[in-house]
Amino acid sequence: MRIGMKEFTLISEVREELDKALKNGKTIGFVPTMGALHKGHLELIGRSVRENDITVCSIFVNPIQFNNPEDLEKYPRNLKQDGKMLLSHGCDILFAPSVAEIYPPEEKEDLKIDFGTLEQILEGKFRPGHFRGVAIVVKKLLDIVKPDRAYFGKKDYQQLMIISELVSRLQIPVKIVACETVREPDGLAMSSRNMRLTIGERKVAAKIFEALKQVKERSATQSIGVIKKWAIKHLQENPAFRVEYLEIVDKRTLLPLTKWNNRQNALACTAVWLGNVRLIDNLELF
Ligand code: PAF
Repeated sequence: MRIGMKEFTLISEVREELDKALKNGKTIGFVPTMGALHKGHLELIGRSVRENDITVCSIFVNPIQFNNPEDLEKYPRNLKQDGKMLLSHGCDILFAPSVAEIYPPEEKEDLKIDFGTLEQILEGKFRPGHFRGVAIVVKKLLDIVKPDRAYFGKKDYQQLMIISELVSRLQIPVKIVACETVREPDGLAMSSRNMRLTIGERKVAAKIFEALKQVKERSATQSIGVIKKWAIKHLQENPAFRVEYLEIVDKRTLLPLTKWNNRQNALACTAVWLGNVRLIDNLELF
């Protein structure tokens, strides 16, 4: 039986607790988050609870992955509410460190991995430095928690690929578990940023997923070029939207497809501004 949830802010304390669990032969599942938890995160927690003896969730708004200071400042934070949600979903340990705990001022951040085009395309192109920031913090968190399994959502598809690459290149002994995107009843992908949408923006936000579904439907009969043009135009007909990119890529490399040669690996992905909020989504086409 799981009794309560322990909360730690210091690396030494969470390590001490996890060392005890390791000595007792327990398996550890880990869900790294930036808080402002929603049903998508809770699915990851639920899966970790089912598959491991101990589930650890981290809440840390990682400053070095924000290329836009306003986005960092406005990122929703609600630790108290998050703690309640985690407790009621069977999480055993919440690790919520301070910025100084993760990035001591005397330490210089460095990650000697070149992710090549993977960190330069799509999100990487529009958010320079973002994936380096993600990779640095995820490596630190994996070193602290030393989980058997770590859970990530497919909504952040490129992030998932960067993390898989990180783990494989540094030979970190953890299984990365990719989990399906969780959606609102109208199809909008769940995201902490959704709570920053106005009522009017929230009403139209589901059009992003509708456009992706149309891309999938049209892929049976139309060329990639025609579909992309249609989808961007269709979204931008609504003045609330500004499409940053909408691409059809090979899901193994995230490089753009120009012909339907690799249909079974095609993924449509998009980033769209809705007012001041930037939303991303993707859909496997086959
Ligand atoms: O997906 C997120 O919430 C963050 O990018 C992560 C993986 C917790 C790293 O800060």
